[in-house]
Amino acid sequence: MKLLIINGPNLNLLGKREPDVYGNMSFEVFFESLKEKFQNIELAYYQSNLEGDIINKLHEVGFTYDGIVLNAAAYTHTSVAIGDAVKAINTPVIEIHISNVHARESYRHSSFIAKNAKGVISGFGLQSYILGIQSFLL
Ligand code: DQA
Repeated sequence: MKLLIINGPNLNLLGKREPDVYGNMSFEVFFESLKEKFQNIELAYYQSNLEGDIINKLHEVGFTYDGIVLNAAAYTHTSVAIGDAVKAINTPVIEIHISNVHARESYRHSSFIAKNAKGVISGFGLQSYILGIQSFLL
């Protein structure tokens, strides 16, 4: 099984950015533990701060990979184009968030991705990624 984790803007700063909200572990370190934990899965990771790059990556893998775990970060709440890209591809996408977006500012309560996602996971810290991966094993 081939899965790709895509992280959107500012998530390259995980570990340094608002640790009270996002924790203090970098994604690179966390990703190593994911590869350890899911040795039977071919796991790949991509991060970009640019909307178009995320769309290009969805197009690139969205007809061959078995699943995508997508944390589009702030683009979740703003990007019609990423929502359209998720709809356009065949690979199922799980939308995930580290924080519970529904417990935060109201502008974080809406998502252009959720409607076209297989499911949404929000609020479990970095474990949200683990739950996202596990959802493809059900
Ligand atoms: C986030 C939540 C978003 O609202 C925010 O813009 C992020 C991260 C999360 O993982 O909790 O950058 O997607």
